[in-house]
Amino acid sequence: MDQKRDGFSNKFGVIAAAAGSAIGLGNIWRFPYVLGENGGGAFLLIYLFFIVAIGVPVLVSELLIGRMSQRGVFGAFRVLAPDFKFFKVVGVMGVGAAFLILSFYAVVAGWTIEYTFLATANQLGDKSPPQLAFLFNEFSNSFWRPLFYMIVFMCLTAAIVVGGVKNGIEKYSKILMPVLLLIIVMLCINSVSLNGAMQGLSFLFQPDFSKINNDVILEALGQAFFSLSLGMGIIATYGSYVQKKENLLQTAISVSFADTLIAILAGVAIFPAVFAFGIQPDAGPGLVFVTLPNIFNQMMGGYFFAVAFFVLLFIAALTSSVSLLEVVVAYITEELKLKRKKATFLAAFLITVFGMFCVAYPILFTSFEWTTSNILLPLSGVLITIFVGWFIGSRKTKAELESHGRSVKSISILMIILKIFAPIAIALVFLDNLNII
Ligand code: PFF
Repeated sequence: MDQKRDGFSNKFGVIAAAAGSAIGLGNIWRFPYVLGENGGGAFLLIYLFFIVAIGVPVLVSELLIGRMSQRGVFGAFRVLAPDFKFFKVVGVMGVGAAFLILSFYAVVAGWTIEYTFLATANQLGDKSPPQLAFLFNEFSNSFWRPLFYMIVFMCLTAAIVVGGVKNGIEKYSKILMPVLLLIIVMLCINSVSLNGAMQGLSFLFQPDFSKINNDVILEALGQAFFSLSLGMGIIATYGSYVQKKENLLQTAISVSFADTLIAILAGVAIFPAVFAFGIQPDAGPGLVFVTLPNIFNQMMGGYFFAVAFFVLLFIAALTSSVSLLEVVVAYITEELKLKRKKATFLAAFLITVFGMFCVAYPILFTSFEWTTSNILLPLSGVLITIFVGWFIGSRKTKAELESHGRSVKSISILMIILKIFAPIAIALVFLDNLNII
């Protein structure tokens, strides 16, 4: 018999934990720069469509798989579909993706440490926009300092994973995430009041449909998966801790809403400033690190906000990377039967080695980033929807989603999405991108 599983104490606990994983560098660092490279408003529109039409259904599916099986992602498929060993591939792809994502994620998280120190030492406050751009390029193209901070970040992540997540990071993220939200709102207010802000807002909110092509669509799909932490089994594991009295659909909608809100607010903070300070919207991965210090320099109390912002960005990165490392560690402990401490050390060490290659070769950094979010995550996402749609089926899905005792109206729409729409849409996006159709 299973021992009684640990559980989240209430609905807020689940939402905070899932949002802690979802909200991270993907919202504040990646979303604005990918949007900037992919045409602005048109990208936003497609992104929102994917969040609602595919992100929420996959999020519900992952939660459901976890709660129904009372297992983490590997055990879940074994329990729910013992005859279909094929679905094990979802777990394996998830582990591979988590490994590769963490190896570039930790590099960017390392940048947040460097920028916290720069802000504290007031070395950002006296610089002009071109000087800030130069500073970032020089730093990110060097080797030793980014490597050092990446290693520091990985050690912290590993220390937390060894010690257990529940009482440390989760407790703090419940307090710190709202603080992050507050700071981003302040940044938005300042950014929107800059001269020339309108141009940035129309870049973000006015779709130019001529910018849409198959690359833009694939990037939007990949970003939706990356940002919601989908396709990796982490949400399924959280699902196994959710009590039966909770409404999973509502939980999925709340998490997606919070995640999308932070991403859009990051866009509102960044794009008006991009245009006001003459920075290119398609500046790439350095966008946040170059743009925001300019806003801090214009703000009252900018020094304080700069330090607080980078500290909180670092914390947001840490809560997400803990969940990424956990995926790999859970695999090693469950499947290879290593002890937790050894497994954590091994995983963190190997990921750090890959991270070192990402620091040394930016091409690896970008190809890990592209392949994981645009290929691996949507691919395992589609298998998850097929699994719930066709293998678990309508009757059991309905029973699980209504286990809190009230009827859920949109289940038939959800089933159509899971069975037909999501698999076909994702397949079309892939095929279109490979120029097969
Ligand atoms: N969703 C995180 C972010 O937006 O920063 C990144 C991430 C964390 C992806 C955990 C996947 C994951 F399992």
